[in-house]
Amino acid sequence: MNREYLTIAFPKGKLFKLSRDLFEKIGFTAEGLEEKSRKLVISNEEKKIRFIIVKTSDVPTYVEYGAADLGVIGKDVLLESAKNVYELLDLGFGKCRLMMAVPNSQRREKFSDYANTRVATKFPHIAEKFFNSRGMQMEYIKLNGSIELAPIVGLSESIVDIVETGTTLRENDLVEIETILHATARLIANRVSFQLKFDRIKPMTDALRKILEEEKA
Ligand code: PRP
Repeated sequence: MNREYLTIAFPKGKLFKLSRDLFEKIGFTAEGLEEKSRKLVISNEEKKIRFIIVKTSDVPTYVEYGAADLGVIGKDVLLESAKNVYELLDLGFGKCRLMMAVPNSQRREKFSDYANTRVATKFPHIAEKFFNSRGMQMEYIKLNGSIELAPIVGLSESIVDIVETGTTLRENDLVEIETILHATARLIANRVSFQLKFDRIKPMTDALRKILEEEKA
């Protein structure tokens, strides 16, 4: 852990710009902080802040090990990672749902009729917990993207995936069967950093909370 700097991990993808714009409002920014930056560590020397831009699913890992003091990550990815970090703040943006869906043509009568079939997902741990809670054993197929494709080409019977607008489901003639969880972006902190850098993290979190409340009002 670098004691001098506060290191913040931003995820690539949909949450990057929203994260950058929010932190900018409290003066936490750095020159050249762009998603596609070839430079991987972007520093603000004056404020002693460093930003790192990492693959979404890696954010909890950087934070758990203290390579980043703080990070922004979706609640869905955070739960799936099962990492030991503090969740400091619900940032409100990046709203989505994790749900189970199937091709319209292969809809079954009862939920329990899906027992013992294959589920394609980026979230096998959350999916397993969900189906276990229904007393259903399933086969989980871990994929890394374009999950909706799996049941269309016969790789699985169903999917557990993120829905935002519902466009991807509609365009692929999939129907939602059950919602598993609602998610938004969270600010997370490394447990040791939170103690050691409390004097910096506390006012920063308060300032973010204030902005979020003002925006809500
Ligand atoms: C996510 C998710 C769905 C899609 C949902 O994929 O996995 O495919 O967005 O959004 P919608 O309801 O607005 O259509 P993402 O674009 O992150 O890419 P991926 O398929 O590579 O995971």
